[in-house]
Amino acid sequence: MMIIITGTPGCGKTTISKILSNKIDAKLISINYLLDNYNLNLGTDEVRGYKIVDVDRMNPIVDKIKEDNTDRTIIFEGHLAQDYPNADKIVVLRCNPTELEKRLNTRDWTDKKIHENIEAEILGICTQESYETYGDIVQEVDTGTRTPMEVAEVIEDIINDKKEYPLGEIDYLEQYFHMLN
Ligand SMILES: Nc1ncnc2c1ncn2[C@@H]1O[C@H](COP(=O)(O)OP(=O)(O)O)[C@@H](O)[C@H]1O
Ligand SMILES: [Mg+2]
Repeated sequence: MMIIITGTPGCGKTTISKILSNKIDAKLISINYLLDNYNLNLGTDEVRGYKIVDVDRMNPIVDKIKEDNTDRTIIFEGHLAQDYPNADKIVVLRCNPTELEKRLNTRDWTDKKIHENIEAEILGICTQESYETYGDIVQEVDTGTRTPMEVAEVIEDIINDKKEYPLGEIDYLEQYFHMLN
């Protein structure tokens, strides 16, 4: 089975996917790995600063990895992983904007890029995009109030159908509306 872990930059995709893949011995693939190894970069998003993936070319590559690893759990991690339509599960990592700002401030990013990504988190863009591809099987996990290990354990429960974290619980819009603009 394949699970997508997506979310706004800084929500913890890379950190948590590494912990989880070690914990459950899953195969880990990341968008960044695919970008570098398969030449899938279509340029950089000028506003939010991330690399744009050639999804039409990415999807058959991910299909092939899935086919070649039917005996394993595959974690597919990365911003825009939600554009791949054939995963079995999908988790959007969320983080409250105050904590996300602290995390992104440690990166060598412009204030504008940091702010654009915080806005995207307030608006739930990644969740919207995930919903467009996967509908209500999308689940959301808050990383702002959990340690990375705790988040990894939550996702392990999701993989094993022990718990569900459906959409509708996490909404930053009302509380953080003032941070837009
Ligand atoms: N509960 C948490 N979950 C995930 N990351 C956290 C958490 N608390 C602090 N962090 C830190 O936030 C940063 C998340 O960065 P990263 O994993 O690269 O995110 P992404 O891949 O989504 O951009 C890391 O520096 C990590 O140590
Ligand atoms: Mg990352």
